[in-house]
Amino acid sequence: MFRYLPEQASTFASDVDWLHHWITDLSVFFTVAIFGAAILFAIIWRRRDGKDHATPAILGDHKLEVIWTVVPTLVCIFIAIEGIRIHKDIRTPPENTLNINVMAEQFGWSFEYPNGKKTSNETTVPVGQPIKYILRAKDVLHSFYVPAMRVKSDALPSMYTYVWFNAIKTGQYQGFCTEYCGAGHSAMMFKVNVVSPAEYDRWLNDKSKEIMLANMPPEDKGRELYNSKNCVTCHSIDGSAKIGPSFAGLWNRKEKLSDNTEVLVDENYLEESILYPQKKLVAGYGPVMPAYEGQLKTEEIGYLIAFIKSLEKSSVAPAASAAPVAAAAAVDLTKMTPAERGKHYTQTKLCVTCHSMDGSKLIGPSFKGIYGRSGKLTGGASYVADDAYIKNSIWEPLSQVVEGYAPAMPSYKGQLNDQEIADIIEYMKTLK
Ligand code: CUA
Repeated sequence: MFRYLPEQASTFASDVDWLHHWITDLSVFFTVAIFGAAILFAIIWRRRDGKDHATPAILGDHKLEVIWTVVPTLVCIFIAIEGIRIHKDIRTPPENTLNINVMAEQFGWSFEYPNGKKTSNETTVPVGQPIKYILRAKDVLHSFYVPAMRVKSDALPSMYTYVWFNAIKTGQYQGFCTEYCGAGHSAMMFKVNVVSPAEYDRWLNDKSKEIMLANMPPEDKGRELYNSKNCVTCHSIDGSAKIGPSFAGLWNRKEKLSDNTEVLVDENYLEESILYPQKKLVAGYGPVMPAYEGQLKTEEIGYLIAFIKSLEKSSVAPAASAAPVAAAAAVDLTKMTPAERGKHYTQTKLCVTCHSMDGSKLIGPSFKGIYGRSGKLTGGASYVADDAYIKNSIWEPLSQVVEGYAPAMPSYKGQLNDQEIADIIEYMKTLK
């Protein structure tokens, strides 16, 4: 009865649900039995035809009393033992956990991985590996809650807390803040992506985002900050009012302040409002924005301002990820040598994410000195990196994995043609 709990995605989930359902069913059973009996007796023994019906006066029944004392006691002891057992599981992480630091702040979550990779409002973890989130808050009390994993813990500014789980299936699960922490509380959500271990390794070492970020125009960098620094929680970019004013059409507008004066929205006003939001409050909005003083670098504020400038009134700009692709398309390939084109492809097709050009070991073998190299494959066969081998490695990477590397590379069949591969090989030849 009442099977309404969310998807089960961690090893504890089935235990937690089992006990929860047991207690719920038991409560429903006794509620129905007690109230049902009360109603039934009221009907049977009601006053009829103007006279009362005398009931038999029963004075004690030892058998009944023993049963209704002993049975509920045993049931309660059983529930307590099971509860303690499951609680102990949930509070005792194993030794070999993957530790991820979590910082909660108004109004978002940031995650830091063992290799220094950072994400905001989204966390990616491998399936079948115990994960421990070490929780901390920057400002006020928050609470980290992932229903599908059946874990929940407060995040505090004054002490470390933790949750751990072992995910049993891949997928995307919703996380919430479940402690009222201010005006943006209800929007303080995050995603938990559970992926295969190989996909996790690829993701963890994926530098394409950093490369992309470094090559973005300022307004696109600003858009990234708008998302990662949680501006998005309170400021829309489509003109709708949220907790704070929308960024759409904000630039160069005369804004009415709460003290009835007016201010022109220019660089100085925006910077001041980001660093010291309470100084000049826009009329109609509360003093709820946290100060970003010390949290944004000067150039980052510049990027945010560039982003705000780029937002026309009530229009949604295209996604940031389209920008580098468009920039890449503007490159004139016909004026390049084959090796230059090859270099260009290694960047635009993100080979550089997994293959270094300087001999250092990333996820895949370095391209430095790769042409003509020989060695062993996983499985023992030997290889020589000639044209045919390299082409096959690009199209069918898993058919010949070099010893010591994970089978993590996606196939580029359909993404790189013969000519492009020939250009990449020319580029490889220059990397001695
Ligand atoms: Cu953070 Cu509610």
